[in-house]
Amino acid sequence: MPTDTLTITDNRTGKTYEIPIENGCIRTHALRQIKVSNDDFGLMGYDPAFLNTANCKSAITFIDGDKGILEYRGYPIEQLAEQSSFLEVAYLLLNGELPSPKQLEEFQFLVTHHTYVHENVKTFMDGFRYDAHPMSMLASTVAALSGFYPDAKHTKDEQSRRIQITRLIAKMPTIAAFSFRHSMGQPYIYPDNELSYVANFLAMIKRIGTSTYKVHPTLERALDVLFILHADHEQNCSTTSVRTVGSSEVDPYSAVASGVAALYGPLHGGANEAVLRMLRGIGHVSKIPEFIKQVKSGEGEKKLMGFGHRVYKSYDPRAKVIKRVAHEVFDVTGKNPLLEIALELEKIALQDEYFVKRKLYPNVDFYSGLIYEAMGFPVEMFPVLFAIPRTVGWCAQWEEMVKDPEQKIARPRQVFTGSTRRDYVAMDKRK
Ligand code: ACO
Repeated sequence: MPTDTLTITDNRTGKTYEIPIENGCIRTHALRQIKVSNDDFGLMGYDPAFLNTANCKSAITFIDGDKGILEYRGYPIEQLAEQSSFLEVAYLLLNGELPSPKQLEEFQFLVTHHTYVHENVKTFMDGFRYDAHPMSMLASTVAALSGFYPDAKHTKDEQSRRIQITRLIAKMPTIAAFSFRHSMGQPYIYPDNELSYVANFLAMIKRIGTSTYKVHPTLERALDVLFILHADHEQNCSTTSVRTVGSSEVDPYSAVASGVAALYGPLHGGANEAVLRMLRGIGHVSKIPEFIKQVKSGEGEKKLMGFGHRVYKSYDPRAKVIKRVAHEVFDVTGKNPLLEIALELEKIALQDEYFVKRKLYPNVDFYSGLIYEAMGFPVEMFPVLFAIPRTVGWCAQWEEMVKDPEQKIARPRQVFTGSTRRDYVAMDKRK
């Protein structure tokens, strides 16, 4: 008998089935042959929230959650954060290899020259209420881009795909900055092609009137590193949304808008915002023991935000890099007073049996919010700052999905638990 198979005996029928094992997986579709009768639908897998289901094959990002390893196309995140730049990493994620100097120059030129948005996009954004959350503005405006680029529907055309991907990566900082300016009641600042990807974004955020705002090189590098760390994270909630929506062959703007929407949630990209609110709520180091007690008892359904991860069951490697970057940023901006609370909270949680037993360690969001706040961003902008670099990962994953001959429109099964068939009751007969 071949060893790379799984033998299943159905105790309902006594029949035995041999199912091939491939890449450490069985194809759950192979379970469908397991039936009790000819009209039986066949066995399915039940896996709410995909805890143990691979939805695709991917060659982009590798994570070993137990060992705390994250690699983009085989390159360790620590090396990329130390030696690379965000656009170089973007090229790597999209193309599979690090760019040559010429390839990087061409890519940077392309991205830089697609940063402008149609003037009507500005008008569209003006329609939002003065206090609209920038993340909802971002999600809606990215979706609206599909109305500006009808050619994006040609998802099977490689050239079209590449143009839309360039547009998405290039325009994301512009739309993000416009959403910030709108919420501040300030005029939009147009992109500046002389600046780097990150410096241009910061200039669109910070420039007032004709002031020639110059970004501090440490802050420019810090944000570039944060963008590298957030560029991709394999099949997380937002990427799964992009793949799922994209599997209907809709244009990539609509698919990426679904990713932005998923990222908005407090259990995903909204967590760094939630971390800051939590730290402010704690207010002082002396209040930490009481807060930890509430988290452990489940009182008020409190969680230690910025802790825990579906995949990492050890220290998130991105959190380690971010902690270092935080100190570099605070040398320029002055220390964020919440840092003291965060460090103490981390220290206590890493020793507390509740968190140790559940393998709850700081994740990428635990320190990123402190950096963003020190750089002058309001909490509402935190998930937006996550969405800008993650657009690269969404696009790389979307294109991989489009090119994968095994992929089809996503359509999970369900276990029906509702009422059996019954007859309609007329209104006057209902109790
Ligand atoms: N604080 C307190 N307890 C926690 C936390 C936390 N942050 N995270 C998990 N737990 C507990 C759960 O209550 C559960 O305890 P139980 O076994 O006694 O019921 C156990 O740890 C396992 O947690 P699950 O919810 O099953 O883990 P899951 O993988 O489903 O959730 C998640 C992962 C959503 C990230 C969770 O840890 C969480 O909510 N963390 C806080 C929010 C956060 O920081 N999100 C950012 C994630 S990183 C990112 O998206 C970029």
